[in-house]
Amino acid sequence: MSSTLVWVTGASQGIGRALVEHLPFDDATVFDVSRGGGVPGTTHVAADLADPSGWVAVEASLREALAHFDGERVVFIHCAGTLEPMGYAAEVDTERYRRQVLLNSAAPQALGQAFLSAAADLDGQVDFVQLTSGAATKPYEGWSAYCAGKAAGDHWVRTVGGEQATRGEARVLAIAPGVVDTGMQAHIRDTDEHDFPAVAKFRQLHRDGQLVDPADAATRIWKVLARNDLETGSVMDLRTLG
Ligand SMILES: NC(=O)c1ccc[n+]([C@@H]2O[C@H](COP(=O)([O-])OP(=O)(O)OC[C@H]3O[C@@H](n4cnc5c(N)ncnc54)[C@H](OP(=O)(O)O)[C@@H]3O)[C@@H](O)[C@H]2O)c1
Repeated sequence: MSSTLVWVTGASQGIGRALVEHLPFDDATVFDVSRGGGVPGTTHVAADLADPSGWVAVEASLREALAHFDGERVVFIHCAGTLEPMGYAAEVDTERYRRQVLLNSAAPQALGQAFLSAAADLDGQVDFVQLTSGAATKPYEGWSAYCAGKAAGDHWVRTVGGEQATRGEARVLAIAPGVVDTGMQAHIRDTDEHDFPAVAKFRQLHRDGQLVDPADAATRIWKVLARNDLETGSVMDLRTLG
């Protein structure tokens, strides 16, 4: 059995994919939680995380793998997220908006709880990380369910981090990666100003070559996890982290 178990949601693309490709462990079993899958060297946990039945599939994977695990470390990095649909709340399709709320606001909490519960009795290092964004504190018109989801995720991390400091062993962190060159950013640049008035800023960042390579973001996230001076419940930004 591997000494390290890693779950990455949204590993099929973008930052999640780069995290898997730049894994710092020689001996790890990796689970890709996504709809698409197809990531070499991983076990695909097929789940639509905008649907609560997908959370149940992830919990089953966690329970099965952790039931008899006595290795050194378990890590769960929640990357799956979406800006779909971009647009003003009163104007976008209600069913698509509902799915965005479930994925961005509810899934991080439900998956975090499932992971911490399944890992509660382990002896090794236990890390739960979710990807956050400057949008957690800055209201971008056209991104309401995204901004609200990231804000909710940050506060969940602060609260549960406090709980773990009081009565637990797990480290719970939120990490903002900066503006990273993924499909999500390409989609932002393609959006009409009517639906996302701040689009010009993101097009300019791209023209100026200011986007971070996903491999760099992934490597920095793994370096953050290798540190032992970060308090559980911390919400941090790679752009300002020393
Ligand atoms: N890129 C940036 O500049 C940036 C900045 C700040 C924060 N972030 C955050 O970083 C994380 C990763 O972003 P990214 O840029 O890598 O995004 P991305 O390239 O669009 O990839 C998104 C990932 O999420 C998965 N996903 C989307 N909807 C899903 C669903 N319903 N069920 C399961 N998985 C789903 C996708 O997999 P499938 O389609 O295969 O399901 C994909 O692997 C997100 O939480 C994002 O908010 C990104």
